[in-house]
Amino acid sequence: MCGIIAAITKRNITNILINGMKKLEYRGYDSSGLAIIDNQNNIIRIRCVGKVNALIKKINSMKISGNIGVAHTRWATHGKVSTENTHPHISSNIIIVHNGIIENFSILRVFLKKQGYQFYSDTDTEVIAHLLHWEQNKKKYCLKEVIQNSIKKLYGNYSMVVMDKNNPSKLIAIRSGSPLVIGLGIEENFIASDQIALLHVTKRFIYLEEGDIAIIKNNKIDIFNKYNIKINRKEIISTIKYKSIKKGKYHYYMEKEIYEQPYSIQNTLKNRLKDNETIHFDELDLEKDNLLINTEHIHIVACGTSYNAAMVAKYWFESLANIPCDVEIASEFSSRKLVVRKNSLFITLSQSGETADTLSALRYSKNLNYLGNLTICNMEGSSLVKESDCYILTKAGLEIGVASTKSFTTQLTVLLMLIAKIITLKKINDNTSKAIIKTIQNLPQKIQEILKQTQDIKNIAQNLSNKNNILFLGRGDQYPIAIEGALKLKEISYIHAEAYASGELKHGPLALIDENMPVIMIAPKNSLLLKNQQNIKEISARGGIVYILSDQKFDYEDNINIIKLPHIEELIAPICYVVPLQLLAYYIALIKGKNIDQPRNLAKSVTVS
Ligand code: G6P
Repeated sequence: MCGIIAAITKRNITNILINGMKKLEYRGYDSSGLAIIDNQNNIIRIRCVGKVNALIKKINSMKISGNIGVAHTRWATHGKVSTENTHPHISSNIIIVHNGIIENFSILRVFLKKQGYQFYSDTDTEVIAHLLHWEQNKKKYCLKEVIQNSIKKLYGNYSMVVMDKNNPSKLIAIRSGSPLVIGLGIEENFIASDQIALLHVTKRFIYLEEGDIAIIKNNKIDIFNKYNIKINRKEIISTIKYKSIKKGKYHYYMEKEIYEQPYSIQNTLKNRLKDNETIHFDELDLEKDNLLINTEHIHIVACGTSYNAAMVAKYWFESLANIPCDVEIASEFSSRKLVVRKNSLFITLSQSGETADTLSALRYSKNLNYLGNLTICNMEGSSLVKESDCYILTKAGLEIGVASTKSFTTQLTVLLMLIAKIITLKKINDNTSKAIIKTIQNLPQKIQEILKQTQDIKNIAQNLSNKNNILFLGRGDQYPIAIEGALKLKEISYIHAEAYASGELKHGPLALIDENMPVIMIAPKNSLLLKNQQNIKEISARGGIVYILSDQKFDYEDNINIIKLPHIEELIAPICYVVPLQLLAYYIALIKGKNIDQPRNLAKSVTVS
């Protein structure tokens, strides 16, 4: 949450900061601000409630220029959305931007007030600014020592960048729970929460590790680890194409990302299906094969859309590989006492690899008796990838829309491949594994076919856009798809949507059915179709209006609408059936005029727990 960008250069940095902030809006976007030390050594701070565009408007009416500065997009945690609470925060000569939460901020605030500090905001960040200033004035320490002394007093997960008006030749960055990456330039250097904020100025990056403090000058970078030992961190060249950050012919990133799915899945499959016989992940070595062979139970932990993907995998692990699988919401996992099954493999699933709850769950799991841990993640170099025993990349490409789409379908693709691999390694049933490998290759083509017939979905979106509530139903491995469909709709259109397993209808939600409660039913041709048809009859008999997603014909009735899909093999049907639901949510939100890529109150990467 929250996005940080800072720069030290020999040219004017205003546009560098602004361009970076725009790329970081996906992390939080209720307000934004920047502070620059200009060439006369004045601190110029501009802050604004609303999106970065509002800040840009304000900046355009002023003439500001400087070679060192920090900027921030905020997703409010402490204190309401207001200009006063917007970063950067200042304490005399100390200027700071911060991402994360300081848990003991109120005690420190009381202490600092007693020392005579005046607070202009409700944030935990202003507490850090004053604490640094207080520490600096106690003894004449250098800024690095001031920061090291101060952070001993802070509890929580955070990252921050500090600038000192009295010494405007360096930025100091600290990573303690939230990611930070240094961008390397020629006679200029940068720091940000995510490399995409810096791709317009560099492709060379250094990721800070937990506990690192970096002193960043325009021609030099010194990094100290948590033991205060100076170290070299590896430089990487980003493989993200700057072009992929642009929307191209699409109106929204989410639309682009939905339509990209055939290609993302192709990329996920590429070089991983060996002779149509076995699955090979470059990321897993032979030793990891043993881990998989010895696995007798799977425990998957994730949040949001990734959690829904894990729920589908539970059906698959048990029905295809005969391996018991439990799935848990990450924030619940770390806060309870649990019983670990014998030879259990702990799997985390995450697009960003930075979700604080999932990361805490991984760290918590390491003290428990798991056989080992694996993360399935889209972001190489992310905290989850770094901290896990092993990882598999989903290779979805950059996803910018807050509502996850291609991440979900590529996660499912990897999970299905992983199951095929485990089946082969454990010599469970060669035919099942071959069937997975054969069928999974049809995915890009099938999704392409679905994406060509959007007119039906657009029509239904028109009918549904004025509804206040919508019910989603599905059975078996399509039940989590109903949940994901409802989540997509909630996230971007703000329509209340709930999902139920179709069999649960008669145990409660049937009471809600009337002409104002449309029902979206996922009913592909499979062994559960008869039961689903029964549910459809129960709904229509009570005056409910049903929209059925199916590759099957249904008897015509007034209040039944069909979204006819091509025939799809049962194995890959959950991956395909989510696509029309993504489109439905997208078109409804479009009709309602919502900000699809940046829904209110949400952020793509939730780095606070
Ligand atoms: C946030 C995002 C969701 C995402 C969830 C988990 O809530 O808004 O789209 O599914 O985090 O994120 P992860 O990066 O761990 O998959």
